[in-house]
Amino acid sequence: MAVRALRPTIRPPGPGDARALEEAERECFPDPWPGHLFLAEVRAPGRFHRLALAPDGQLMAYLLGVWQYLDLHILKIATRPPWRRQGLARHLLVLAGEHVMEAGGESVTLEVRESNQAAIQLYRTLGYELKGRRPHYYGDGEDALIMTWRVPRSQ
Ligand SMILES: CC(C)(COP(=O)(O)OP(=O)(O)OC[C@H]1O[C@@H](n2cnc3c(N)ncnc32)[C@H](O)[C@@H]1OP(=O)(O)O)[C@@H](O)C(=O)NCCC(=O)NCCS
Repeated sequence: MAVRALRPTIRPPGPGDARALEEAERECFPDPWPGHLFLAEVRAPGRFHRLALAPDGQLMAYLLGVWQYLDLHILKIATRPPWRRQGLARHLLVLAGEHVMEAGGESVTLEVRESNQAAIQLYRTLGYELKGRRPHYYGDGEDALIMTWRVPRSQ
């Protein structure tokens, strides 16, 4: 898998990562979260957060998820532009799915802009299915699609 060549270190973020997350967020989203939200998130309980760091310590990609009963809700997933199309986001989502299975959860859910074909394609390749729509979910009025991955049932 291409992601191996990047030799990412995967670990949860701490308060010292909030600034790097804020910078990456500005590169990745038109409506970025402010830094204080990252600071609150990394300190909050009931989360599954992971960073992918380059060997020189640069933040390459991140996933933030919050448990909502048996569902892990993805709040953020992004790969910074220089490291895209090398399997990092897929890798982080696979780790999230494995975590849900190990923890006895049932599903992973997220919202995605209906125009975000790159992300929708990513989720589809991992088996996420369209579950619904949130009209005017984003600040600019765009709808969100709700997509869910379910833990496979054992026979
Ligand atoms: C969407 C995003 C997270 C993908 O990150 P990534 O690390 O480049 O994705 P991966 O390399 O793991 O891609 C895995 C698969 O997803 C699909 N995919 C990813 N980017 C794609 C693109 N630009 N166009 C079409 N398909 C794409 C492909 O099927 C890809 O597999 P392939 O490269 O073997 O064809 C990244 O483009 C990003 O950060 N975008 C801005 C933030 C964002 O939109 N986050 C999602 C919010 S819901």
